[in-house]
Amino acid sequence: MSERAIFDSLKDLPLPEVRFYPETGSTNQDALDWAAQGAPDLALIVADHQTAGRGRLGRSWFTPPGAALAFSLILRPALPQPDLLPLYSPLGALSVAIALEQIYALQPLIKWPNDVLLNQRKVCGVLAESLWQGNGLQAVVLGIGINVAPASVPPPDQVLFPATCVEDAVGTTVNRWHLLAEVLKTVIHWRDLLTTPSFLTGWQQRLAFKGEKVRLENPGGETFEGILLGINPFGHLRLKMNDDSEQTFTVGDLKLRPLS
Ligand code: BTN
Repeated sequence: MSERAIFDSLKDLPLPEVRFYPETGSTNQDALDWAAQGAPDLALIVADHQTAGRGRLGRSWFTPPGAALAFSLILRPALPQPDLLPLYSPLGALSVAIALEQIYALQPLIKWPNDVLLNQRKVCGVLAESLWQGNGLQAVVLGIGINVAPASVPPPDQVLFPATCVEDAVGTTVNRWHLLAEVLKTVIHWRDLLTTPSFLTGWQQRLAFKGEKVRLENPGGETFEGILLGINPFGHLRLKMNDDSEQTFTVGDLKLRPLS
């Protein structure tokens, strides 16, 4: 892997600073630290290998060397609106899904709120973390991990949801840095559209398990079963419950599973 290849593939994007680490603990932690030290909007950290990659709900994220994409983009929202925070990780998922469609003509789906699936297996996870000063939102760190080559797929006993990688879906080797550039280009485009109907439409069109029976589980182990109807204008998940009522669930610490 040449560092030049990475910087070359990113040269047409409006990224003020890019840091590449052959190995680091977590790019999200690095980006939060950098943001606290004043990193500008769209500063980017990319790592080849993470030794302490972070996932949602306190889980860990597997990033072995040479096989995955692991990066964190620092966003400094022009109008820091904390109520938009839950939309940042779906922004990451939508951008990865669109990039996979654009480059490889794949048909990814988004498992609400922000896992990208290929052939019903998870190929990408997104973790958005925020930096606060008092009540003021300083920055959002958008961390994205994509399984690219087979070596990046965690062993089945280490995942809660079946996993896959981009190369298995494409059937050939994939240029990681080309994919990275396309995802970043897409994030930069859609970040300004977070409050528009087209963002929600783009997300909803790619929503996995629509019309299917699913189970949601909260951290206390409480479960809710129903038919997945879609998302509402706030990005909340809509389920039709057994008694035909509709319930909505906010983006948070919920696990979603298909029941079939
Ligand atoms: C999940 O599905 O649980 C979210 C995984 C997010 C992983 C990415 S890899 C780059 C960035 N750095 C981290 O430590 N985590 C995110």
